[in-house]
Amino acid sequence: MFKKILILAIAVNFIACSSGFSEKEKQEYTVKGQEIAQATFKELSANLMAQMKAGGPSQAIPFCNQQASPITEALSKKYDVVIKRTSNKLRSCNNEPSEREIEIIDSYQQLMLKNKELKPIVEIDKDQKKHFYAPIKIQANCLVCHGKLNETMTVQTDSIIKSIYQFDIATGYSEGDLRGLWSITFNK
Ligand code: HEC
Repeated sequence: MFKKILILAIAVNFIACSSGFSEKEKQEYTVKGQEIAQATFKELSANLMAQMKAGGPSQAIPFCNQQASPITEALSKKYDVVIKRTSNKLRSCNNEPSEREIEIIDSYQQLMLKNKELKPIVEIDKDQKKHFYAPIKIQANCLVCHGKLNETMTVQTDSIIKSIYQFDIATGYSEGDLRGLWSITFNK
């Protein structure tokens, strides 16, 4: 038992050192990343829900199309980071995942299959940039625009979406599914 713990401790230490990140820094950036992702989620959903209430999907979808990026960019400036939402099943071509983001989404999907918890990931890339990644899951109120056609999503909503996003494949989801990834790059 003791030996196992020792080996684990060495392994953890090795991983932390090889990525140039101390455990303390990792924790700090995890907290910061979570705070920024939550603030962005809150801001996007509050705006979205207000639009849904005012005019349903036909008002909320064009709103998302025009405002999701400016809202995210304003928060990126505020926190001095680059905030991105991405997915392996994209709606907007502007949210295309990088190679690393695809790898992380794949690894989260593997964990989901094994019923394991999805934890945020922080790491440093080869240019010494710090990154935070965390899963985005589908909630009940996402289904109007990301759900299953004729079940949780109407044909009308789907056709509004397809009129703006011809290549949209971000539908067919159920509650709890992995929708995508928060990817936050820190400027410092
Ligand atoms: C009113 C319709 C609507 C609802 C409700 C909605 N979305 Fe979306 N979603 C969109 C649109 C439109 C886009 C594309 C935005 C853009 O152009 O950047 C999008 C994009 C995304 C993206 C970025 C990746 C991509 O495929 O482009 C994620 C992640 C996402 N939505 C997750 C969610 C989650 C999670 C919820 C529920 C909490 C949700 N959405 C609710 C319409 C909606």
